[in-house]
Amino acid sequence: MSKTTIAVLHGGRSGEHEVSLRSAASIMDGLRDVGQYEVLPVFISREGIWTLEGVRVAILPEPGIGGLYVLEGEKAGEVIPVDVVFPVLHGTYGEDGTVQGLLELARIPYVGAGVPGSAIGMDKILMKAGLLAAGLPVGPYLWFTVADWEENKKQLLKQIEEELAFPCFVKPANLGSSVGISKAYDSAQLEKAINEALQYDRRVLVEKMLTGCEIECSVLGNDRPEASVPGEIIPCNDFYDYSAKYLDDNSGLEIPAKLAPETIKKVREMAVQTFIALDCAGLGRVDFFVDEKTGEMWIIEINTLPGFTSISMYPKLWEASGISFNELLQKLVKLALERFSQKERLKTTFDPS
Ligand SMILES: Nc1ncnc2c1ncn2[C@@H]1O[C@H](COP(=O)(O)OP(=O)(O)O)[C@@H](O)[C@H]1O
Ligand SMILES: [Mg+2]
Repeated sequence: MSKTTIAVLHGGRSGEHEVSLRSAASIMDGLRDVGQYEVLPVFISREGIWTLEGVRVAILPEPGIGGLYVLEGEKAGEVIPVDVVFPVLHGTYGEDGTVQGLLELARIPYVGAGVPGSAIGMDKILMKAGLLAAGLPVGPYLWFTVADWEENKKQLLKQIEEELAFPCFVKPANLGSSVGISKAYDSAQLEKAINEALQYDRRVLVEKMLTGCEIECSVLGNDRPEASVPGEIIPCNDFYDYSAKYLDDNSGLEIPAKLAPETIKKVREMAVQTFIALDCAGLGRVDFFVDEKTGEMWIIEINTLPGFTSISMYPKLWEASGISFNELLQKLVKLALERFSQKERLKTTFDPS
């Protein structure tokens, strides 16, 4: 049987470039280990240039080309066929629907959520709106644009203080890995945090501080997704910031999370409901705050391309649920192909007669 060719996109024009390199290294090792895939490592620079083993390549937004178009060198103009693209990109220009849009136009199957699921999953403001519309629990928050901020700084600061109190969390609408996120303890810190977040996006949200423990749950599937056992994050810093996630080894993962059986059931159900409500596909990790003292539970976000090194929460939770890292990769490739063929069966013409 011929091998399935998988282009693994990694790096990217994102504050999470480094994190993507780590996830992609694990994924490529795993795919090669399985033995039935030909892996094409496609590196995307911080400027957005795509290369395959140092040679510039591109996916053209034209259907039927079916692969990576070689832009330079001896093979310039040739096409390297690709069966499935695995966009192992975190954050902007990768996890946000932009690459997914290109792959839709090019008509190439790819792993993970499509354009709307990716875009909404990346935008914390739209994501919260989607969750609230589906009746799912979201903590109190406010959001505004850079224009609002410039016009009404004083009023916004006052409103945040009154409605959300301190400490509160300030986040750029679109990003991940805690980049641009601050916890503000007073008005001066709040102002600084907002200016910081506005470096990354023109829209910012401020959230009330949630209590309890930080719980994550992995979801896998397309229209009938399933949830893993939940795990708990024990951050080594004041919150799970970039350094607690990637630089310091002292953050802990508790798998499975030590929660009451009925809480676990609820978390898993809500993880699946979140995935469906936001039109995700393939994979997603839903993050929660769970306060067993008060019985409250909030969804903080979904990550449509969660961290994916062999020690990351997403694959670890599946491992604890009986699916190994390599099996997980095989399932994701299969889900990508299934979703593609389902989409290919849809009509794109209409005859009104
Ligand atoms: N409302 C909140 N209350 C308490 N902690 C929070 C809140 N929002 C975020 N955090 C902390 O900040 C971290 C990063 O926030 P998150 O919204 O998950 O952003 P990212 O997409 O960058 O991971 C969380 O893992 C959590 O530790
Ligand atoms: Mg997060």
